[in-house]
Amino acid sequence: MRIVDLRSDTVTKPTPRMLEAMTRAEVGDDGLGEDPTVNRLEEMAAERLGKEAGLFCASGTMANLIAVMTHTRPGDGVICDENAHIHKLTMGGTSAIAGVLLYTLKADPLGRLSLQEIEDTINLDPRYPRSRLLVVENTNNLAGGTVLSPEETSALAALVRRYGLMFHLDGARIFNSAIAQGIEPKRLTKDCDTVMFCLSKGLGCPVGSVLAGPKNFIKEARRFRKMLGGVMRQTGVVAACGIVALEEMVDRLGEDHQKARRLAEGLGRIRPGIVHLETVQTNIVCLKFSGPNMSCRELVGKLAKKGVLAIHLQGNQGRMVTHKDVTLEDIDHALGVIEGVLKGKR
Ligand SMILES: Cc1ncc(COP(=O)(O)O)c(C=O)c1O
Repeated sequence: MRIVDLRSDTVTKPTPRMLEAMTRAEVGDDGLGEDPTVNRLEEMAAERLGKEAGLFCASGTMANLIAVMTHTRPGDGVICDENAHIHKLTMGGTSAIAGVLLYTLKADPLGRLSLQEIEDTINLDPRYPRSRLLVVENTNNLAGGTVLSPEETSALAALVRRYGLMFHLDGARIFNSAIAQGIEPKRLTKDCDTVMFCLSKGLGCPVGSVLAGPKNFIKEARRFRKMLGGVMRQTGVVAACGIVALEEMVDRLGEDHQKARRLAEGLGRIRPGIVHLETVQTNIVCLKFSGPNMSCRELVGKLAKKGVLAIHLQGNQGRMVTHKDVTLEDIDHALGVIEGVLKGKR
């Protein structure tokens, strides 16, 4: 059976160039700062994002948690979208491990937070938890991969800076955002204090994320990475893939965006209203589906039996993500399968 795996861009497999780079990687003990390949990746990543230093982490979840731990003290308040990855998808790590309170706000349908609501949430009164950090995603995963522009990022930064808060950008897919907007990623990161991006998603690496920010911040962040057991020793073996990704895998992300468009438009033709097309700005297609005889969960289950893999999020919400390991032909095939299932033909 033909399988079209649209569950996430995390399902991507390393490229032949990555596998080759792994076998050739010069390595050392990263816990001692002696892995030349990791050091090179951290420098490259920091440079691409206009930051002083980088820290290679096992995952985006770990890099975000380290950022929160480094920016805050237990008891501090962190402001984020109610659908933020750090809120919804990290097993409560920010409260269980960092000990902070998340103040969650409802974003608009394109995943943007209101400046006014952020301002109203900031609390510096000594009787209350101290607002310390704003965390924002670019692209916004659960809003459907929507992008934040440089101007929107600057406005958020200017607001929180006025109150002395720090600004961490969860840029798991920051390169998708930059490619979709036709701009250098630096323009999206110059106003945040710190940024994290994932190598293991659309960029195709098997493992890894990089946290970037000021030198002193990264020095401190290293201590938290150690605390979390995130020192992985001869990590150059996987960091080598990250170098290939930054050199070769960024410019092609536009192809994934075209595939998502084709998928979203096709879905809209099959079932008008199932996708809010305005949210399809990068490689994510969020669906809202509830039929008289089929729930969204059942739809996802039926599609999986026919080889089209999607994710059921919750209730009537599902998600499909395009990436380098699906082709335009796969998308057309998936649309045929979806149409068959929805129209009861298959
Ligand atoms: C916006 C966002 N942040 C962070 C992460 C976490 O990355 P990881 O899966 O590498 O832990 C994800 C993963 O999907 C994400 O979408």
